[in-house]
Amino acid sequence: MPGIAKLEEIRKSVDVLAASAKSAEELMKSIVKLLHETMLKYNWVGFYMLERSGAEPVLVLGPFEGAMTPHTRIPLNQGICGAAASSGKTIVVDDVHSDFRYLACSLETKSEIVVPVFVKGKVVGELDIDSHFPAAFGLDDRELVEYCASAVGRHLEKSAG
Ligand code: SME
Repeated sequence: MPGIAKLEEIRKSVDVLAASAKSAEELMKSIVKLLHETMLKYNWVGFYMLERSGAEPVLVLGPFEGAMTPHTRIPLNQGICGAAASSGKTIVVDDVHSDFRYLACSLETKSEIVVPVFVKGKVVGELDIDSHFPAAFGLDDRELVEYCASAVGRHLEKSAG
């Protein structure tokens, strides 16, 4: 598990990125890059954004780091991603193969965390992270990923006026 000092350093970097990003898209790109580079067990890091324009809302793949995923559009009734977006709650899965909701992205993935992004109390997207290691996401990780997701939510809220 990474030390508290390292996590604090990453949170500070997120603050700096959030203060200088010209758009939420730019902030999302820099956050996925930062997490993927600094957190060695975060093997796939990406945002999905909720599109409500069609008949059914769908999560659409946004900025990500890691291998291309077959899941570029996920309906809300599918996957751990769909469950997190529809419940508005963080979901941590220690062993993806024992979770019936899991949509496989890579054969190597063992655990996953999905954290919703909120704007004015509504889910607008989520930050999804996969690990090649079982139970890679402890409480500290959860806090860090929630910190990143809420930085993006605040940025979107600001730009929405
Ligand atoms: N595993 C996710 C699908 C997205 S990929 O992990 C990138 C899910 O079960 O919703």
